[in-house]
Amino acid sequence: MDVLDAMARRRSLRRYSGEPVPQVLLDRILEAGLRSASGRSRRPWELIVVRDRAMLDDLAECREQGAGMLTGADAAIVVVADPTLADTWVEDCSIVMANMQLEAAASGVGSCWIQGRLRQAADGRSTHEFVANLLKVPAPYQLEAILSLGMPEVEAPRRPFDEALLGKVHWETF
Ligand SMILES: Cc1cc2nc3c(=O)[nH]c(=O)nc-3n(C[C@H](O)[C@H](O)[C@H](O)COP(=O)(O)O)c2cc1C
Repeated sequence: MDVLDAMARRRSLRRYSGEPVPQVLLDRILEAGLRSASGRSRRPWELIVVRDRAMLDDLAECREQGAGMLTGADAAIVVVADPTLADTWVEDCSIVMANMQLEAAASGVGSCWIQGRLRQAADGRSTHEFVANLLKVPAPYQLEAILSLGMPEVEAPRRPFDEALLGKVHWETF
């Protein structure tokens, strides 16, 4: 599958079949993240893979709303970074997330981005504080996002390209 094809298949999937994500596919998704470019190649990120059912259910509480799909997910990959290593840490983590989501789509694994940075947990703590406490993330690591993963309940149809988006492309000047 080429990259544009994987992009056409990538959808935010929040409902999963309950079937486990095969380890070989999870390993490919992690490899896609670890192959990511980063500013000055600093690679300030760390990835925490969560598969424990009780932990995934607890993690679902990391947001007031927007993380509930973790109660049905088979795995989550939590992306954190040390901001002292790179001032591009947000961009670096975002590339990791996007690459992992693309590989998930190419492998037929359902995924959804859960925003962590600048978000609140249901209990009033920041999502970062909630997740750092639950997963023992040391300072100065900061939470960027969580990728929820599971085998799709229903396969998402390949999305056609919306030609109207070409209006967002400006040639030579804005
Ligand atoms: C930076 C970013 C943050 C997002 N945060 C969440 C989130 O916290 N919870 C959620 O359910 N979806 C989240 N999403 C998924 C978007 O809602 C989704 O990508 C968008 O609605 C377009 O749908 P699609 O991914 O199927 O194309 C996020 C996506 C991005 C790129």
